[in-house]
Amino acid sequence: MNNKVVWITGASTGIGKEIAKVFSKSGYVVVVSSRRKSRLVGIVSEIKFAGREASAFVCNVASERSVQLTLKRIIEKYGRIDALINNAGVTAFKSFLETKVYDFDYIMNINLRGAFLCMKAVLPKMVKARRGHIINILSVAANTVFDNSSVYSASKAGLLLLSQSLRKEVRKLNIKVSNILPGAVETGMWDARTRQKYKNRMISPADIAEITLQVFNQPKKVLIEDVVVRPVKGDI
Ligand SMILES: NC(=O)c1ccc[n+]([C@@H]2O[C@H](COP(=O)([O-])OP(=O)(O)OC[C@H]3O[C@@H](n4cnc5c(N)ncnc54)[C@H](OP(=O)(O)O)[C@@H]3O)[C@@H](O)[C@H]2O)c1
Repeated sequence: MNNKVVWITGASTGIGKEIAKVFSKSGYVVVVSSRRKSRLVGIVSEIKFAGREASAFVCNVASERSVQLTLKRIIEKYGRIDALINNAGVTAFKSFLETKVYDFDYIMNINLRGAFLCMKAVLPKMVKARRGHIINILSVAANTVFDNSSVYSASKAGLLLLSQSLRKEVRKLNIKVSNILPGAVETGMWDARTRQKYKNRMISPADIAEITLQVFNQPKKVLIEDVVVRPVKGDI
């Protein structure tokens, strides 16, 4: 068993849940977090039933206190943190004119500030250990304009540049920072009608999870920096 500890935020559903499953199958200790405890408990039970180690912690990435407490619990339990997968994210699917200040704050607080808080939390341990890997699940919306996604795009573009700046700073300390930019993935982020209409075209969350594992499982001296993953037939 590999004792590397991988923390996945927003792991209660969709892409995060699949990432937890594939990392666990590869032998890593996974820590799943999100706001909904009941869903996390189910994922951990499944992993433990298969004889592997996992923990669930309720963590709202929009709260600095919650993020710090989660890291503290991970360190208390395992004594190490090897990877952070910043996956928690939300969107609103509204035009700019319909977007309220509340929507802006909500999306930014989770997608951009939340990822920032999680990176800030794990970095002191990674710097001390002179190793670690942060993987951000961004979106093609970080560098492509879509209808009804202005704040979502801004949050992902902000995180892209924030993490690229961080990468420049910490690569000399042997800390890796990678970004994965998926196109449309078939998850609950989309309404049922859209999923039904495009289901033959959308990427499966399990495929993004496998790609995330590949980004992580590189030789020590190799860093996959930014990966764009689109449906073969392009954006929906
Ligand atoms: N689906 C796509 O087409 C697509 C494409 C590109 C990128 N992405 C990105 O992939 C990531 C995962 O999305 P998904 O498609 O898998 O959608 P999803 O199924 O809706 O998953 C979103 C996850 O984020 C968690 N979350 C939301 N707010 C949170 C908060 N304040 N604190 C902690 N966790 C929070 C949710 O859990 P709780 O509600 O339990 O907190 C949930 O587990 C997001 O960053 C999204 O932007 C998705």
